[in-house]
Amino acid sequence: MRRSLTSRAARTLWVRVAAIAVLTVPVAAQRAPQSGVRTLANVLQLHELLISPASDAVFNASTDPPTDDKGWTAARNQALILAESSNLLMVGSRVRDNANWMKMSRALVDAAALAADAAEKKDAMALESATDAITVACMDCHRQYRDGGRQMGAPPR
Ligand code: HEC
Repeated sequence: MRRSLTSRAARTLWVRVAAIAVLTVPVAAQRAPQSGVRTLANVLQLHELLISPASDAVFNASTDPPTDDKGWTAARNQALILAESSNLLMVGSRVRDNANWMKMSRALVDAAALAADAAEKKDAMALESATDAITVACMDCHRQYRDGGRQMGAPPR
């Protein structure tokens, strides 16, 4: 008798535990982050922090090619920063749409990868054509997404 009471109590407890699990797990799952990624900087900030300084450095290395290993490594690293910051354009809150925005961000990744490769090979000619591709990638995106296609350069005052 006592034994069966205990087991009934135990069963009741398990039913409760199961019910709580069923009720709380989906709520917990909804609250949990979808991934480890948490984006903070907006598109403009990504430009200010990464894209503009890195692309400036790559453009400079193209017009005035490095003369030593250290300089080429620095140029390659800036091209890698540019490539990876273009990847960041395709993550989280920065994504404007799932079509051209992604294509144009990816185009900048690819152009920056060409520049990284050229710098790795210390190939000034290849770096020059890579920076042409970078310029095209910047302008293509600005034409569609940056205030009515204003050309590159300082914003109007
Ligand atoms: C995928 C799209 C995209 C690409 C690629 C891109 N930009 Fe931009 N860029 C934008 C948008 C959108 C803004 C406006 C951001 C804002 O004001 O919120 C912007 C703003 C800027 C600004 C800020 C000041 C201004 O004139 O409005 C500069 C400078 C700039 N971009 C330069 C570049 C350069 C250089 C590259 C290439 C190395 C580049 N961008 C690549 C989308 C892009």
